Amino acid sequence: RFLGIGLELNVDYVAVAVLDLSGQTRLSATRPVAAPGDVTALLELAAWARGQVSGNGEILVGGTVAVPGLVRGDNRTIDWAPNIGLSGAGLAEDVEAVLGCPVAVLNDANCAAYAEAHHGAATDTDHALYLTGTVGIGAGIVDRGDLIRGAVGFAGEVGHMPIGDSTALCGCGRRGCWEASIGLYAVLAKVGLPELSTPLATAAAVAAAAASDPRVTAALEEVGRDVGLGVAMLTSVLDPAVVVLGGYFVPLGELVLAPARAALDARLASAAQHRPELRLSTLGIEAAAMGAAEQSFADVFSGDLEL
Ligand code: BGC
Ligand code: NA
Ligand code: ZN
Repeated sequence: RFLGIGLELNVDYVAVAVLDLSGQTRLSATRPVAAPGDVTALLELAAWARGQVSGNGEILVGGTVAVPGLVRGDNRTIDWAPNIGLSGAGLAEDVEAVLGCPVAVLNDANCAAYAEAHHGAATDTDHALYLTGTVGIGAGIVDRGDLIRGAVGFAGEVGHMPIGDSTALCGCGRRGCWEASIGLYAVLAKVGLPELSTPLATAAAVAAAAASDPRVTAALEEVGRDVGLGVAMLTSVLDPAVVVLGGYFVPLGELVLAPARAALDARLASAAQHRPELRLSTLGIEAAAMGAAEQSFADVFSGDLEL
């Protein structure tokens, strides 16, 4: 009866997942937002989810919010979230007021990576790299079940590395960032299609357009090539066994994966270098919310919180 709640505040959607201690999903949902990083939509979703699962002796042990930005090692303070312009510890406080339990804030890619490694697309490996397919591009690096966090908790900030040949302006204010080449908005600009109400609907429409429009297919090949280039660089640093692509990449599937594999092969330092297997997320758009919910239990399993 002990439940953990995971929320995700992203640029163009909010999501929630409620899990019990056995890892069973009790509830999950994604909703569109009115504006980038819509905190009001997140608080409404949190209140709704809480209402759905309360009663019958259910107890919310903790909550975690996944955000598209850099979160300090205190698991609470947002330093910088380029595409939603949010910082500080106010978000954690606001969500705590709605949920009535302690709330942590973590990086979105790290949360999704955690979920994929524990019960998603990368359960069979000790060395996984996860890439978000969202407006921003972030990574979560998992080594034997644990996230690599780095000195202050910012490891995996790959979206603002200069990869690909884009000169488009990034949400961070610079040009040439990887996410300005392969992030959702960059892809929509390349294929000339509009954003729909949710990232999955948008990506499904892009995939459908590719079936009849060779220009869309060609644009996606370019995206895939830039995905592969970046994965080649990350492979040289991290040597992952599996790279999981999440979010909008899932509906696009081989349209992006095939050119990504080709670029990866071409860019590896030597023929002897291990090529990681590229896979699609199995948890989908709610991966970050699920990983966030799981990490709400981390204190319970570590013994820091007694039930
Ligand atoms: C942010 C990362 C985030 C990624 C995916 C990037 O713009 O800098 O922290 O993980 O977007 O949302
Ligand atoms: Na990360
Ligand atoms: Zn950037």
